[in-house]
Amino acid sequence: MAKISTPNSKNISKRKFISGGALATTAAAVTSFNINTSSVNAQTASIDASSGLKTGIMKPMTYTELPGFLSAAQIAPHYNNHYGGALKGHLDLDKQIDEMTASGMRNGAAYATMQCGHTMRGNSTLLHEVFFDGMTASASDPAANIRAVIEAHFGSLEKWQADFAAASGTASGWSVLK
Ligand SMILES: [Fe+2]
Repeated sequence: MAKISTPNSKNISKRKFISGGALATTAAAVTSFNINTSSVNAQTASIDASSGLKTGIMKPMTYTELPGFLSAAQIAPHYNNHYGGALKGHLDLDKQIDEMTASGMRNGAAYATMQCGHTMRGNSTLLHEVFFDGMTASASDPAANIRAVIEAHFGSLEKWQADFAAASGTASGWSVLK
């Protein structure tokens, strides 16, 4: 676990980033059923407090590899470079935005660029945290309520899985079921 920096006390909302920013912010499409949906649901209520966006520290991963599915060499760049880089970039921009605001300097273009980067890196940070938090050592079936919604919207779990895999295969960033 690497200490990045000390964040300020801004009210950071996970949903703000997820819904407010472009989702195609980083690499790595999510296509697996190795996502513990009940765990993700439980974590949604507490993710704000433990998120690196709040603590300034990278959240530790439960699994550094999933043998037979994702190797440590595959996961490490996403954790160290993508996630760690996004968190550091977000926190750096947080500080720069505060400094520009405090200085009284008015540069609309620079401010807009910083805010855009701030949001994109915040999204990337949170999406990586959701992905790492949802990893499980074995494939699991979705919870009954999630299965029912998927079946209502896609016809069957298998149709959704095919659609989600196709979307992930063509995306330049993330595929997200919400
Ligand atoms: Fe990544």
